[in-house]
Amino acid sequence: MMTVKIAIAALGLALQGLTLFGGAAFADGDAAKGEAKFQECAACHKLEAGINNVGPSLHGVFGRKAGEIADFRYSPAIKRSGITWTPDTLDAFIKEPQAMVPANRMPYAGLADPAARADLIAYLQKAFP
Ligand code: HEC
Repeated sequence: MMTVKIAIAALGLALQGLTLFGGAAFADGDAAKGEAKFQECAACHKLEAGINNVGPSLHGVFGRKAGEIADFRYSPAIKRSGITWTPDTLDAFIKEPQAMVPANRMPYAGLADPAARADLIAYLQKAFP
C-alpha cells in the first residue's frame, strides 16, 4: 500500500514538472481574448503562410528563427538577434520590442499588461500548436 502511495506522489510531481515545462505562465492565457488583442498586430501581420504585409507573416511562428522569411526585408537588428521564437521570447519581445532587439524596425511600442500578452500568446499557440 505504501509503495502505491509513493508511486502516486511521484506521478503527481512528474505531472507538475510537465506543466512547468509547457510554460505555466501562458497556460492561463485566454485564446479568445487573445484573438481580439491580435487585431493590434493584424494591422501589420498575417497568420497565413507567405503573406507579408508591413510586417512578416507570423505563420508557424513558434520554433522559427527571427528574420528567417526569405522575401521579407528585415532590419539587420532582427536578423542578427539570434532569437528563436518561443512563448517566452515572444513574450519578452512584445513587452518592449526596442528593449529586447534595439534598432529593430517594428513600429510597436509594446504591450505592458502581462495578462494581455498571455492571452495573445495563447491565441498564437492555438493557431500553431
Ligand atoms: C505597425 C506595424 C506592426 C505592428 C502593429 C506589429 N508588428 Fe511585428 N513586426 C513589424 C515589422 C516591420 C517587423 C520586422 C522588424 C524588423 O525587421 O526589424 C516585425 C517583426 C515581428 C516579429 C519577428 C518576425 C520574424 O520573422 O522574425 C514578430 C514575432 C512580431 N513582429 C510579432 C508581433 C506581434 C505579436 C504584434 C502585436 C502585439 C506585432 N508584431 C505588431 C511590424 C509590426
